[in-house]
Amino acid sequence: MFTMLKRLAALLIGATVTALAKAAAPDDAAIDALIGQMTTAEKAGQLTLVAAVYEHEPSDRERARGEPTAMQRQLDEIRRGRIGAVFNGIGAAWARQLQRAAVEQSRTKIPVLISVDAIHGFRTIFPVPLAEAASFDPALAERVARATAVEATAAGVAWNLAPNVDIARDARWGRGVEGAGEDVHLAQVMAAARVRGYQKNGHLGDADAMLATPKHFAGYGAAEGGLDYNVAELSERTLHQVYLPPFKAAFDAGAGAVMAGFHEIGGIPSMIHHRLLTGLLRDQWRWDGIVVSDYAADHELIEHGVARDDRDAARRAFMAGVDVSMTSRLYQQYLPDLVASGEVPMARLDQAVRRVLRTKRNLGLFDAPYARMDVARERAQTRTASTRALAREAAQRAIVMLRNQNGLLPLAPTTSTRIALIGPMAGGPADLNGPWTVFDDRHDAVSVETGLREAMTDPTRLSVTRGSDIEVPIAGGIEAAVAAAQQADVVVLAIGESESMSGEAQSRTDIVVPAAQQALAEAVKATGKPIVVLLRTGRALALSGAVRDADAILVTWFLGAETGHAIADLLFGKVAPSGRLPVSFPQAAGQVPYYYAHKNTGRPPPPGPMREYTARYRDLTAAPLYPFGHGLGYARVDYGATQIDGSDQLAWDGELSVSARLHNTGTRPVDEVVQLYLHDRIASVTRPVRELRDFQRVTLAPGEQRTVSFRLRRDALTFVGEALRTIAEPGEFDVWIAPSATGGTPTRFTLLGP
Ligand code: NOJ
Repeated sequence: MFTMLKRLAALLIGATVTALAKAAAPDDAAIDALIGQMTTAEKAGQLTLVAAVYEHEPSDRERARGEPTAMQRQLDEIRRGRIGAVFNGIGAAWARQLQRAAVEQSRTKIPVLISVDAIHGFRTIFPVPLAEAASFDPALAERVARATAVEATAAGVAWNLAPNVDIARDARWGRGVEGAGEDVHLAQVMAAARVRGYQKNGHLGDADAMLATPKHFAGYGAAEGGLDYNVAELSERTLHQVYLPPFKAAFDAGAGAVMAGFHEIGGIPSMIHHRLLTGLLRDQWRWDGIVVSDYAADHELIEHGVARDDRDAARRAFMAGVDVSMTSRLYQQYLPDLVASGEVPMARLDQAVRRVLRTKRNLGLFDAPYARMDVARERAQTRTASTRALAREAAQRAIVMLRNQNGLLPLAPTTSTRIALIGPMAGGPADLNGPWTVFDDRHDAVSVETGLREAMTDPTRLSVTRGSDIEVPIAGGIEAAVAAAQQADVVVLAIGESESMSGEAQSRTDIVVPAAQQALAEAVKATGKPIVVLLRTGRALALSGAVRDADAILVTWFLGAETGHAIADLLFGKVAPSGRLPVSFPQAAGQVPYYYAHKNTGRPPPPGPMREYTARYRDLTAAPLYPFGHGLGYARVDYGATQIDGSDQLAWDGELSVSARLHNTGTRPVDEVVQLYLHDRIASVTRPVRELRDFQRVTLAPGEQRTVSFRLRRDALTFVGEALRTIAEPGEFDVWIAPSATGGTPTRFTLLGP
């Protein structure tokens, strides 16, 4: 009996699935027919995403025992239909081997999906996403995402595990560097732009488009204490008002996947959050993409204390709505049995498989499984000159000038100015690309030193002194730096965080410039030479002493391949700075979480001198050191008062025009980011003191005056009301057209009832 069954099973497994043989791009019915012919093991395989292995040479042990290599084992699993997707592999030739195993050697012939973490570029590294957000330029973000997709898809990739759309309001949290900062509106427009870029704006089936995965669903950035992986203790209102909108924006832009996070939200791990994963995503938003787990996050349900064992963990995650399991293989291992025992309905299994197969179909993989695995295209489209030029443009636009006393910048590249470039960030190749790169070549990135030398007409006027390591002093470093400063007319102090000080699992308790570099800055300042600080960082930092008081400060974040060129372009005035802070810079680390769109409280501290019994620390004003939205150019722009054009009454279905007169008072052109903020004066629930609702980038010629206007409708005034529904309420609103979250002169208007 047993032998007969085994023979029958072998026959079945050996059988070719016919449904797909005729349908190149299967329609929904053909996909269902295919599902009907799959074994539960094959179905579970489609829901299994594993990390790539690529050793072709056997290890000593494998050789000694005559065992297959890891790569052979992975190929074999694909042939047997046990794996549906593989991430972080190494290029077109490698990917073709996997695809051949899937579409030519497996029973079902279902193509394998190659995925990647291309967070800020694939092989050409662009500025980290936080820096890109500082551009306040969604069109630029879309072009960067597009260029990333072109490079990645040439190497076989069809699925990107990006963008990160987590709102980050606690600068201690290391992963703020991967997102768009603290603001909901900016995060929404950046999320949508990145999705459009990766997915080629609706042309997902093209060979140079890849699936986007907004992550980490949802509220991962609210980690308590800024500690990565920690609990997000979030109110429902804040979840819906702040953390979910960037996901919605990504889905509205077409995102076809989402990643559930490692964290828990108020007692429920995101991996088993049925109300979010199924109630919100499927029932309410009617979204039909694939939910993927984070790395082994299903297995981690055991440590969370909500699953007995791996089998239980797989069941809970799958039934809550996680379709695909990353790396743990729990679905591969347990779903067939869970279905056989009736603990998981076959209908749920089929639903998840249907989503995966439709996604593969939408990507064009059934039609042309090798289209993204083109060795010649990979050669031709990797690190091209135009991608490189885009990296330079993106880096230029990401830099934020916080301060420029007495017009110290720009420096003249041609005069006899002697520049002392000092600090651990002067050279390379380390710490240029920033965290979260998988396929970069760090030697590809241009250092500050190289950038400056190339730009100077007389590079002998540049001296370079390290002065200190990133976290520890070096013997004689300070003395050498002081001597170099004394010989120079201006000091360019290149300091900040290493690339391993932000990113995943890299939270910091104290968001300051490391002590060794602070000491270097103090010593250099004592020389009395003018100082330009180049601040490399993956988060907002609490600046103090000589760094805070430097004559000029440029926040350069991590700019990637074109770091040195872009910095030189700005320092020497070839390009004017035009970035704006996507995160508030607090005065002290103890203020975090710190963000501009906070609530007023019942005891708001008045500006000016300290008043007892108000919501402020005893030793600080509540003001930021630099507010969200702040950033200077090489000319001062004056803002006139915010004006309502016409009536100050906004009809329920009407429109209002708001404007302000801007004046470039300088002698250089300016790229200004004009920001529109709103405040609901009296509402049924408390509302932030200000919220960004729109912005525009305008270029003003020297001396130019221009009126910039925005149109406002009711949808800009909505919020999550008491019953957790999005509503608008008639009443009075303040509106600012301003250069930052603390600037501008507001005016008032009234939203009339329906
Ligand atoms: C863990 C990270 O949280 C996630 O963002 C990433 O996509 C996976 N690792 C895979 O690398």
